[in-house]
Amino acid sequence: MAASFDPGSFGHPGPLGRAAARRTSKPSAAAVATGSAASAASAASRPVGAVTRGTTNTNRLRRMDRWIVHTLGPALRAARQPPVAVDLGYGAAPWTAVELYGRLRAARPDVRVVGIEIEPSRVAAALPYAAPPALTFRRGGFEVPLDGDRAQLIRAANVLRQYEEEAVEAVWQRLCGRLAPDGLLVEGTCDEIGRRHVWVALGPEGPRTVTFAARLGGLGRPSDLAERLPKALIHHNVPGRPVHAFLTDFDRAWAAAAPYGAFGARQRWVAACTALSERWPLLDERGRWRQGEATLPWAALAP
Ligand SMILES: C[S@@+](CC[C@H](N)C(=O)[O-])C[C@H]1O[C@@H](n2cnc3c(N)ncnc32)[C@H](O)[C@@H]1O
Repeated sequence: MAASFDPGSFGHPGPLGRAAARRTSKPSAAAVATGSAASAASAASRPVGAVTRGTTNTNRLRRMDRWIVHTLGPALRAARQPPVAVDLGYGAAPWTAVELYGRLRAARPDVRVVGIEIEPSRVAAALPYAAPPALTFRRGGFEVPLDGDRAQLIRAANVLRQYEEEAVEAVWQRLCGRLAPDGLLVEGTCDEIGRRHVWVALGPEGPRTVTFAARLGGLGRPSDLAERLPKALIHHNVPGRPVHAFLTDFDRAWAAAAPYGAFGARQRWVAACTALSERWPLLDERGRWRQGEATLPWAALAP
């Protein structure tokens, strides 16, 4: 019998996974070899990728979920068949998959969320929360096993952060190849309780956008998000690289917008984004900025 999968019913157990975490070295590009004959042969029996720390937390990915529902909502609603969404690498407990299901269901009631984890005991721990066909859990890796389906969404949060940078491009390609024609891959990183987030969104053709999202109350400056940059960007936050220039300009705009802080951190963020958009191609309208988001085309920040 399936356990209740109401996200609100889990309480707040605090960060999970550390106790169960295995000490692993960073998986190399070789470990996620994608496309060689050898990997194709082994993929049938062995998930592609490597077990990494399983740290997760309830409500950690709410900012990412909110953006996903906003961005993907029209495609979810337009899908002819029940759309399939994957929470890849959900960790030591299934909270993020359960919550993703709850949030996507609001946009598309017959959505199917599949939590995929490479570590077998984490799959076993999640199974009591399955509610098939709406919410299921299975073992797998970057091959994204879906029994012939393609994913409308693949969300991989705090997964690639633990791999080597050289692995990223091949993994992105592999995951993008598992998307439906109008599907989206969202890959990024956040802090333990989801106050600071940065993610890349990719379509089947490749990277599209980068989103910075923060809890604005208590944010010192926008570059505080630098430590949460996704693997593809974090090693490029050095002078002379676009992401460093962007964060430097964002900090300046944030400082100049300090007087708006009297009206609240949201007003200050919106004022900073308005100023920043004179130099950088910020996407979206003020409504998203008010959520504490700032999104740019990938091309503006690509290393
Ligand atoms: C830090 S946890 C992230 C949990 C959750 N996504 C979150 O953000 O709270 C990373 C998880 O990704 C899993 N993982 C790593 N590589 C994977 C792969 N190739 N396929 C599936 N899961 C993977 C690890 O086993 C680990 O449980």
